[in-house]
Amino acid sequence: MCGIVGYVGPRDATPIVLGGLKRLEYRGYDSAGLAVVQADGRIGVRREVGKLTGLLEMVDGDPVNGQVGIGHTRWATHGEPSRRNAHPHIGVTGEVAAVHNGIIENFFALRQELEAEGRHFASETDSEVVVHLVEAYLAGGADLETAVLRALSHVEGANAFVFLYSREPDRLVTARIGNAGGITVGLGEGEMFVASDIPAILEYTRDMVFVEDRQMAVVTRDGVRVTRLDGEPVEPEVHTIPWDPVAAAKGTFRHFMQKEIHEQARSITDTIRGRARLEAGHVRLEDLELTPEEARALEKVIIVACGTSAYAGLVGKFVIEALARVPVEVDYGSEFRYRDPIINGNTAVLAITQSGETVDTLAAMEEAREKGARLWAIVNVIGSQAMRIADGYILMHAGPEIGVASTKAFTSSLVDLYLLGCYLGELRGVLDRVQLRQRVDDLARLPDLVGRVLELDGEYQRLANLFYDREHALYLGRGINYPIALEGALKLKEISYIHAEGYPAGEMKHGPIALIDEAMPVVAIAVRDHVYDKMFSQVEQVKARGGIVVALATRGDEEMATKADYVLFVPPTPYLLSPVVNVIPLQLLAYHLAVRRGCDVDQPRNLAKSVTVE
Ligand code: AGP
Repeated sequence: MCGIVGYVGPRDATPIVLGGLKRLEYRGYDSAGLAVVQADGRIGVRREVGKLTGLLEMVDGDPVNGQVGIGHTRWATHGEPSRRNAHPHIGVTGEVAAVHNGIIENFFALRQELEAEGRHFASETDSEVVVHLVEAYLAGGADLETAVLRALSHVEGANAFVFLYSREPDRLVTARIGNAGGITVGLGEGEMFVASDIPAILEYTRDMVFVEDRQMAVVTRDGVRVTRLDGEPVEPEVHTIPWDPVAAAKGTFRHFMQKEIHEQARSITDTIRGRARLEAGHVRLEDLELTPEEARALEKVIIVACGTSAYAGLVGKFVIEALARVPVEVDYGSEFRYRDPIINGNTAVLAITQSGETVDTLAAMEEAREKGARLWAIVNVIGSQAMRIADGYILMHAGPEIGVASTKAFTSSLVDLYLLGCYLGELRGVLDRVQLRQRVDDLARLPDLVGRVLELDGEYQRLANLFYDREHALYLGRGINYPIALEGALKLKEISYIHAEGYPAGEMKHGPIALIDEAMPVVAIAVRDHVYDKMFSQVEQVKARGGIVVALATRGDEEMATKADYVLFVPPTPYLLSPVVNVIPLQLLAYHLAVRRGCDVDQPRNLAKSVTVE
């Protein structure tokens, strides 16, 4: 999950590279650096451990300028966070600089070979190995492109690189092998940009070319030339990114997470737009098409995902089984490929992944592909690996999600699952026109319901002031809202560091009831649905043991308001869409608790936005 930025053009590369790294901070990192070919032909390098501010101060005090440059935020995999292990790496000649994302799996053997040839290493990283290989080929008379091609033929593992070379100061050479995070080339006017992901360069251009697996790109200020690693030329496909550059900034909010929570009425509208035809009572999925025969032949859907996206998958089981009557299994991406799943051509494996780069989810997709499944993805990042390897995909259209804790992408993936359920239900003849129109009408009213919940933000902030010093919490839910109990607990623990567990409410008496005391708030999702009476009973059991209950209840439910210690009201919502509405108070509660506890909400400790290493 390292961040990469590059520039080649008439402007000074330094501020562009540093600005791009700043917009990639959310990816999580422990050191940063940049390299620029200076006017005197020498490469200037600045690297610093810790947050980006350290590097900015270093560059202020000891400037480096030039018209071609690369930068990197590093998430340590080999070698502790330090200046010498920070990227870019420049080998021994000082004429080549490289930044790298991924893991060179055979780096130790390569390093031993190079050391046996008398080469000395300045760092403990795997990345430096490739710079030495490139230098050796350059010394043999190769140009940069050829040297990189030859060097990469030695490399094993999923990796992405960007190189610059002081003797060819008009270009960057970039290449990727496997799923090590993307490489995007931004097409400017007489200047070009390279980045590991879109927000880093979106303010300069919306026109992007994605470097695919086993491809190389030579980038000069006048354009990009793409070839496969076997030398075969590739006609680059230009994607125009609809995201508004400002949208990727915080706006008036204090944190990206806060902004993204409050964007959900709009992001859900964007997710629905163009897909649900209210008058016709029809759902269309522009990038996932099936014939009625294919839909009817479907025997099973297996959802694979990680973290919050896995909890979306658990909701998806309820939704797709209810709307399309096809069995759904849900697996963690990290578990799926180790259980020898039963798959055939009538199985659809559906990956849910905001980043589209989560290595466990991508590995599950590869396993599904090898076993002959139909491969689908619900994904947010346009051009991501998951989007590109799927047979069909449904974009979340949530816009850039910068906060490490996923919020709007989660609710957009729930809407995509609902759209998929309606789509399959229609094709399979499970939903008739009247039923479809009702489902689509329910969906059309969802943004308004979400907006009403967001207006209650002040209530969640007041509640957070009561519980900010607690160290444990228990979240209970039933049915389609059990995954929301899991997600509410995950939100709390990942940004406030309060230990929180989500549990199926019916399981409380089989263990967790032993934990109940006045120190541990119990958040109970007890909205008026077919399991309400069971939830009411659960709340009574907690109260009978001196516990504290925060009930998520349907507006007007005075009975629950009387029974619970605190109540968070939500508007009545159709059952299959209720998780979208019910998760929002839990997102806001976690947010305000984390802020009250002084936590780094957008970049929680130890976490990264996209987990691209195992
Ligand atoms: C969610 O708040 C976390 N950031 C994490 O669990 C995340 O959902 C998980 O890593 C999956 O990411 P993806 O959706 O990009 O695959």
